[in-house]
Amino acid sequence: MKTHKILTLAGDGIGPEVLAEAVRFLKRLEALGLARFEFEDDLAGGASIDARGVPLSPETLARAKLADAVLFGAVGGPKWDGKGPYHLRPEQGILGLRQGLGLYANLRPARCYAPLAAASSLKQELVEGLDILIVRELTGGVYFGQPKEIVTLEDGQRRATDTQVYTTSEIERIARVAFELARSRGNFVHSAEKNNVMRTGSLWKETVTELHAAEYADVTLHHILADNCGMQLVRRPKQFDVMVMDNLFGDILSDVAAMLTGSLGMLPSASLGAVSPATGKRAALYEPIHGTAPDIAGQNKANPLAMLASTEMMLRYSLDEAPLADALSSAIEAVLARGLRTPDIAAPGTTVVGTAEMGAAVAEEVANILEVAA
Ligand code: IPM
Ligand code: MG
Repeated sequence: MKTHKILTLAGDGIGPEVLAEAVRFLKRLEALGLARFEFEDDLAGGASIDARGVPLSPETLARAKLADAVLFGAVGGPKWDGKGPYHLRPEQGILGLRQGLGLYANLRPARCYAPLAAASSLKQELVEGLDILIVRELTGGVYFGQPKEIVTLEDGQRRATDTQVYTTSEIERIARVAFELARSRGNFVHSAEKNNVMRTGSLWKETVTELHAAEYADVTLHHILADNCGMQLVRRPKQFDVMVMDNLFGDILSDVAAMLTGSLGMLPSASLGAVSPATGKRAALYEPIHGTAPDIAGQNKANPLAMLASTEMMLRYSLDEAPLADALSSAIEAVLARGLRTPDIAAPGTTVVGTAEMGAAVAEEVANILEVAA
């Protein structure tokens, strides 16, 4: 049995609490004799700033490169807000990992679990059965474009600049990911940009159109302006299957998509890079999209399901353990069907539980699903 090397970076806020549930689940698999893991634990974000003065140390990045996959909690919080130089903010911990590992493809599936259809802020019939996949470009655009600065002008005002920049190859490789994934799903892609006001939008649209005609004509392609896309997501979300967009639009629209599924606490993500010719391994990091939620940190209130669903994606995409990924997905569904809810998804008639109880319930359930003796 292969031993999977996992680097865990819990980060800040609710990061450590939810990450502990992912580890609990994986250790349960191990105890059941279903898989073997080697865990390495390290610091990122504010926790790393406090201990080492930097949000991501070169040693941590090097460890991430050697791991089969990185499991990531969340970084940031009021403790570090507005303090220290911009390049040493906690968020640079995750941005540095994305860039350092070349994780250009961010998959953010928004799936509405049947028992949660009533928890959405939208009408139940709009979200029931929802299954969309946002493919977000993750290493380019305005997050990383140079110059990125605040300068003082001669008249004493200050001027801030961020730069939105994309090359054809960056657009092409992310569009390719979207088209490939669409073929295994509903076979259609919406590409969102703002070609009406942005040069990067025009290049995005042209590049996606050309790639589609040359290699993916069997997939249905729709172009959509990003603002309209936001509106359509809350109007009629089930019209979408795979959606591809740049880094910033993907950040914003994936939060919108998350809420359709009931809670920000439900949405997982996978960030994937290219396969290394040297090791044959694809760099990969798995994280929930919800962030650190400082208001509830340390109170056993956070929803661990986005972290667990991210663990499911890790089992599937990085560790070649699809049956275990399927079992985890079924375990989450079963626990929700039994009426267990963290406070963010609570509803009348359900049982409100804490982070640890929810995580333990999922871990316990997996033996039943795989019908192995516990
Ligand atoms: C996300 C987060 C990050 C982002 C932050 C923490 C830098 O919001 O992953 O969606 O903006 O990409
Ligand atoms: Mg975000």
